[in-house]
Amino acid sequence: MNPISPVNLDGRKRFEGKSVLVTGGAAGMGLAAARMFAAEGAQVAVIDIQQEAGQAFVDEIESAGGQAFFHEANLANADQTNQAIEAVIKQMGTIDTLFNHAGTIIVKPFHETTDEDYDRLMDINLRSAFMVTRKVVQHMKDNGGGSIVITGSIGSGKAFVYESLYCITKAAVLMLSNSIAVEYRDHGIRCNAVCPGFVKTAHGLREIDELDGLGQQWQEADLEATQGRICEPEEVASAVLFLASEESNFINGTALYVDNGWFVKG
Ligand SMILES: NC(=O)c1ccc[n+]([C@@H]2O[C@H](COP(=O)([O-])OP(=O)(O)OC[C@H]3O[C@@H](n4cnc5c(N)ncnc54)[C@H](O)[C@@H]3O)[C@@H](O)[C@H]2O)c1
Repeated sequence: MNPISPVNLDGRKRFEGKSVLVTGGAAGMGLAAARMFAAEGAQVAVIDIQQEAGQAFVDEIESAGGQAFFHEANLANADQTNQAIEAVIKQMGTIDTLFNHAGTIIVKPFHETTDEDYDRLMDINLRSAFMVTRKVVQHMKDNGGGSIVITGSIGSGKAFVYESLYCITKAAVLMLSNSIAVEYRDHGIRCNAVCPGFVKTAHGLREIDELDGLGQQWQEADLEATQGRICEPEEVASAVLFLASEESNFINGTALYVDNGWFVKG
């Protein structure tokens, strides 16, 4: 593409002819993004631990005339992760876009955090992102390029009380994204991160309740001073599609805070 000409899709949908993999796409922001990718013309594969919800996504897309695939895997497990990604490449032929989203949270005072908590969160949030992106980057490199979006958090760059372990993993995930961006730019691979504030998903609502139980007020009404209101999963998904699409061809290694200005407000 001529670097000074605007993206011209010639009336095509943004992801027509593209193959997209979404990890953690059976629920929450991953599901919202998987639906949007499919609506924009992509064939979409989801890898998640939630079998029923993943299959429901496939049924929904297929009954709307689209193409979708689901693989049940625990992304903290290397064998399951590698097998699922290989199956996805076989089914779709390629992976042009990866949305690496699967993750979870532990809310606890730092001094009560156990070694098991550490291993569990590092495995689910960081090791899984490491294993998934490593395999997909290798594939994209052999295939002439692609785009990757990784889910960080406002906690990638800001510390929160009772979320030390979570913030450590999310800071690391953001640096993983930056590192891929600089190392693979010349292989045609872009990598960016989305860093949301509080989002209305199972994860976000559990987090708010658990913080509340520890005396930290982050209920919806309390969010007014920081991010104005709770964010909808679709509002993060549309940022993900932008970062994954040709519209952001010159954006690489960025952290897009989807938080209504909270991060810069302090
Ligand atoms: N909700 C928020 O407020 C918020 C804010 C910032 C960042 N995040 C990030 O979003 C992710 C959580 O997603 P969500 O908020 O859409 O909530 P969610 O819990 O609805 O979705 C997470 C998805 O990941 C899947 N998943 C979790 N562990 C997995 C594993 N080991 N293997 C395979 N799949 C797994 C779940 O089954 C689920 O479908 C985390 O990475 C979190 O850091 C969430």
